[in-house]
Amino acid sequence: MSLLSALSIVWGLMLHVSFAAPDDQYCVPRNTVPFQNELKLFREDGIFNYSTMLLRDELGVLLLGAREAVYALDINDVSVRKSAVYWRVTEEKQRECTYKGKHAEVECRNYIRTLHRVNDTTMYVCGTNAFSPTCDYMTFVNGQLRLKGKQEEGKGKCPFDPFQRYSSLMVGNDLYSATSINFLGSEPVVLRSSDLALRTEFKSSWLSEPNFVYMDFVGESVNSPDGDDDKVYMFFSENAMEYDFYSKVAVSRVARVCKGDMGGQRTLQRKWTSFLKARLDCSLPEPSLPPIVQDVFLLKDDDWRNNVFYAVFTPQSSLSQVSAVCAYTVSAIRDIFNEGKFKTPVAVETSHVKWVMHTGDVPVPRPGACINTVARKLGMNRSLDLPDKTLQFIRDRPLMDEAVHPLTGGPLLLKKGALLTRIVVDSVLALDGQRYAVMFIGTENGYVQKAVNYDGEMFIIEEIQLYETSVPISILRLSATKGQLYAGSASGAVQMAVSNCSRYESCVDCVLARDPYCCWDFSSRSCSSVHSFSSSSSNSVIQSLKEGNISQCPQPAPVAAVDFNLVPGNNIQLPCQLHSNLAQVLWRFSDQTLHSNNKYYIYSGGLLLLRASESDAGFYTCSSVEQINGKKTYNRTVAVYRLQLYSGPEEGGGTTPSTEVTNSSNSSHSGTTAGPGPGPGPGPGLVLEPDPTPEDPVSPETQSDTSRVTRLEVAVGLLSLLCLSLMGVLFWIWFQGRWECFKLPKRATDSEAKRQSAEYMSIPNRTSEIKLLGPEPGGARSANNNHSAVEFKGNGEHHFTPMAKISSLDGLGYINDESEI
Ligand SMILES: *[C@@H]1O[C@H](CO)[C@@H](O)[C@H](O)[C@H]1NC(C)=O
Ligand SMILES: *[C@@H]1O[C@H](CO)[C@@H](O)[C@H](O)[C@H]1NC(C)=O
Repeated sequence: MSLLSALSIVWGLMLHVSFAAPDDQYCVPRNTVPFQNELKLFREDGIFNYSTMLLRDELGVLLLGAREAVYALDINDVSVRKSAVYWRVTEEKQRECTYKGKHAEVECRNYIRTLHRVNDTTMYVCGTNAFSPTCDYMTFVNGQLRLKGKQEEGKGKCPFDPFQRYSSLMVGNDLYSATSINFLGSEPVVLRSSDLALRTEFKSSWLSEPNFVYMDFVGESVNSPDGDDDKVYMFFSENAMEYDFYSKVAVSRVARVCKGDMGGQRTLQRKWTSFLKARLDCSLPEPSLPPIVQDVFLLKDDDWRNNVFYAVFTPQSSLSQVSAVCAYTVSAIRDIFNEGKFKTPVAVETSHVKWVMHTGDVPVPRPGACINTVARKLGMNRSLDLPDKTLQFIRDRPLMDEAVHPLTGGPLLLKKGALLTRIVVDSVLALDGQRYAVMFIGTENGYVQKAVNYDGEMFIIEEIQLYETSVPISILRLSATKGQLYAGSASGAVQMAVSNCSRYESCVDCVLARDPYCCWDFSSRSCSSVHSFSSSSSNSVIQSLKEGNISQCPQPAPVAAVDFNLVPGNNIQLPCQLHSNLAQVLWRFSDQTLHSNNKYYIYSGGLLLLRASESDAGFYTCSSVEQINGKKTYNRTVAVYRLQLYSGPEEGGGTTPSTEVTNSSNSSHSGTTAGPGPGPGPGPGLVLEPDPTPEDPVSPETQSDTSRVTRLEVAVGLLSLLCLSLMGVLFWIWFQGRWECFKLPKRATDSEAKRQSAEYMSIPNRTSEIKLLGPEPGGARSANNNHSAVEFKGNGEHHFTPMAKISSLDGLGYINDESEI
């Protein structure tokens, strides 16, 4: 019986799970922006936990609450501190707290958790104060922060435990808070502190070990046809009562109360008469327990009916690493509360209760409804006038039967890897006159993901590393007017602009970024903020958000070939950096595609040609094949190299017969030296179509991840082989005191790649000295141009500093000097 019911519950849970999700549902950020020192950061030595923020645009400050400190920072540059107040626990408080078994240096401190605006000059601030929550007023006048020293009781307004999640909101002069009201953290409450204080009933059907994450206000009384009231919505997770699982299962909830609620007269005295809750649905592609809501953001619209809550979910089992974002309209939530069926408890067996749909009569006025036209017609103008029947019904049945489903049926974003923690959303007016919801999502490893959903396509424009070390982002705030994002963590507060269009250097880069904030400006030939253009001037600027259509971009200049000398027997490294994480690299030599094997090693930074032989002379092309929109691909040449057999000043310097490998197909090319080269004909890899026309949506080059995986496997195999020989080299380099010059190239930025090359090049006495066929017209370049059969197209902006061979990797056979050849 119990097994059966457990099974039925598992099955029930799986009902709201869609199966068969291909792996490409999981979003990979197109671009990764590593940590930059230029980021504006605020931290003070000895102060931690910068996790409470209040933006005061009109005062020009960001108020930042930390452990035992509140700061007023310049809203334009958070590294500039305008004022600070310190609010430390007294020794006595700390001692009391320690007596109760709490950790003196961790728990028995004052963590500022609440910051709210009261009026133009005054804020309300609360801290945990060594497990004895306390609140105070704080002013910001003449650039100075000051605590008023009122020391109000903070129980129920602020948690005791600094590690406990909680939420609060100031509406007018009323403070709404959702937290625990006792030391043990066992008595959860949703409280309104006002002239007429109200709270939740202390019953597990109302709240069962909840974890509150968010609260916001929706002014639903505006233009309401049924004379409805304003609401406060709250989001949390709690133990499910609707599943009688053998162990506790958590579910995510949305609940709401009416602003005008005054409690009941006899029943529900001083308690909410309008507390209703419903399950939040957000289905992950893999069968799992319901995901847990972590943070929510309300994206407001002029019409409150179009307000949308964006919520971040993470799995409740630590086995899974999939996070999701789901969005819910206020109307959808409202429909469930206003018209949905209720759940009701029924006793099965002796002490066992099951929650099922209530099918009997529902009293009038409808339980849980705000005072509206219907109630007023019945002569009930305040919740105090509601009949006991209505109040008793809602006291025993606060849960709705139906779950709230996301706006788009499923998640807007699914991401594997580091879990998502916090979210803010900006509404961006793009050149096409449409508004796009751009999500900024903090992660547990210190990144912000900037994502957008284009008609169902999940797309992460970029991920930006905000913290040098891997710390969870514990708060995110957005100033849409300033175009700035503020993040907080245990180690500091960071400011970041919502966009940095100048990161994209070419038209193609700019358009393919598909960033609603950015467009390509033909007149200044730069990637600029859409902000500065009205849609009337849009003939001089382009943007293609949904399509990533670059057909209007000027033809990229051809990529100049870079000459490399080939010394038989040596290993040669040809760098190539792709511009997008969504692109796959395609290396070609002559007209054949190269794969990692015992001769070639393709890694994220380029190609390693092992033990070059004469037959390897010729043209090498590195192209990037990028998936756009999941429908088409874009190919572009990133780098071209010409390997020429080395014929140094010394006669016969280019041959080392002992190591020469003569194998395979390209033996016909051996012996080719400078000059026209081994004729890489206009093969498919060299003539590129930078513009995949829309008429050709599915390019044959569309590659699945499998090839990537196999390639990876080959690479790993090869790498282990390499490692052995590398160890020899490393030893040698170490021996030469040049350890710091040798780094295994990892995915790096262009400048990093250049720096690395420079490091290699600084190693003196190398055989393969290189001449660079730079962008300037010159003899070398014209040699390339003689090559009329080859048409190199690319964006021409990436002149890689050519890299000398790293050394001959066969350890002892290292050639130190030309004279040794
Ligand atoms: C702001 O609120 C505080 C606290 O309620 C009050 O003492 C003060 O007079 C108010 N100031 C203004 C300018 O309204
Ligand atoms: C506060 O910061 C410290 C130091 O980074 C961290 O270990 C601790 O977990 C943080 N405490 C809370 C309540 O977040």
